Amino acid sequence: MTKPSLGEFMASSLSRRHFLHTAGAGAASVWIPRPVKGYTGPEIRQQAVDGRLEGGISKWDLDTPCLCVDLDRLEQNLDQMQTTVTRNGIASRPHAKTHKCPAIARLQIATGSVGICTAKLSEAEVMFEHGVDQILMTTVNVTSRKIRRAMALKRWCDGFIQAVDTGANARELSEAAMAAGVVADTVVDVDPGGHRTGISPGTPALELAQLVDSLPGLRFRGMLCYDGGAQHVTGFVERRQRALSRLEAAAETASQMVRSGLDTGIFSGGGTGTYNIDHETPGLTDVQVGSYVFMDAQYLAIGGVHDKEVYSDFDPALTVLTTVLNAQYEGRATTDAGAKANTINRPWPIIAGETGMSYTAGSDEFGTIRYDSNASRTYAVGDKLELIVSHCDPVVNLYDQLYGVRGDMVEVVWQVAGRGKSV
Ligand SMILES: Cc1ncc(COP(=O)(O)O)c(C=O)c1O
Repeated sequence: MTKPSLGEFMASSLSRRHFLHTAGAGAASVWIPRPVKGYTGPEIRQQAVDGRLEGGISKWDLDTPCLCVDLDRLEQNLDQMQTTVTRNGIASRPHAKTHKCPAIARLQIATGSVGICTAKLSEAEVMFEHGVDQILMTTVNVTSRKIRRAMALKRWCDGFIQAVDTGANARELSEAAMAAGVVADTVVDVDPGGHRTGISPGTPALELAQLVDSLPGLRFRGMLCYDGGAQHVTGFVERRQRALSRLEAAAETASQMVRSGLDTGIFSGGGTGTYNIDHETPGLTDVQVGSYVFMDAQYLAIGGVHDKEVYSDFDPALTVLTTVLNAQYEGRATTDAGAKANTINRPWPIIAGETGMSYTAGSDEFGTIRYDSNASRTYAVGDKLELIVSHCDPVVNLYDQLYGVRGDMVEVVWQVAGRGKSV
């Protein structure tokens, strides 16, 4: 007997184990899943039509560890962001480095965002391949190879905008753009003071903007200035003070650019922690918000305007679903979601909906639940639980797909197409 191919093997074992074949009256045949525990990613994807599931699978029947997003909360977060920035007279240009998921990028644009940002060129390429065509790349490309690739993307993606922060880089970009037969839309990245990226505000940034404006292969579109350090400052008053003071020099630079006759159509900056502060910076046009779609334990801890303890402007929507593997020892249980399912960022993940217990994910393959004396419950082997992730961006990068869940039911499976696109 010939050995089946991997595809044939998967298909036969799936149909044997998990599916009942039924036909609706006059309708095309559909595969209805039997309610067994432990659907894997490929099994779920096989049942989805254009990513949508209609068979009725509970999230509690998913194989673990896996990543879920609560769709009601996600939609609420999109709405909260869009309503606030619109009220404040600015726009949102969400950072796709958070979700790496074209379906979510398209949802953000459909609900009012002016485009997306990407951190990496391969991320931008994947977004464009999946139908997203307004992309601001916030990281500079400094090697000839990447610059050429960026200009190749620009040939197809008219809405691609590239950041630069040195004159040498601007010249190289201009030459590559001309060689590719395009004019590269370009923003100047201005350093808010952290010296991570960007050129110093004032004369250096102004002169770079003027150079960009004069180079034949470039079109000057404005500037960006992102202060990552401001985003997680605890306390709204302290955060506001830091964010506004760190963007003062950039705002003055934007005004100098305008006075010198440059058209600064874009002045992008800010993130989830300062989305309701950034509009106070004169001239700022849009916020590059990322984490707000999902939220995480790091952001929950910074406090907001109304709630000093918890940043409750956005709902935690992203969870890792995990299964208990061992419950035979006093005061603790072991799960299947360790560092490889959660990262080792701090604070540790939060067990959703429970009190009196904590979670650590220091072991590669195992998570640890520890109970206090007043724990709301204890777990048995095979029980499943949900973790609010520590830091959403790197956790998403660990998963091939994201299960969109409404209530307990899986409604959609989204490919994390930008997963691992770190080049
Ligand atoms: C350049 C840039 N813009 C925007 C963001 C989005 O930040 P947040 O997830 O805090 O909204 C980041 C995140 O690190 C970033 O690096």
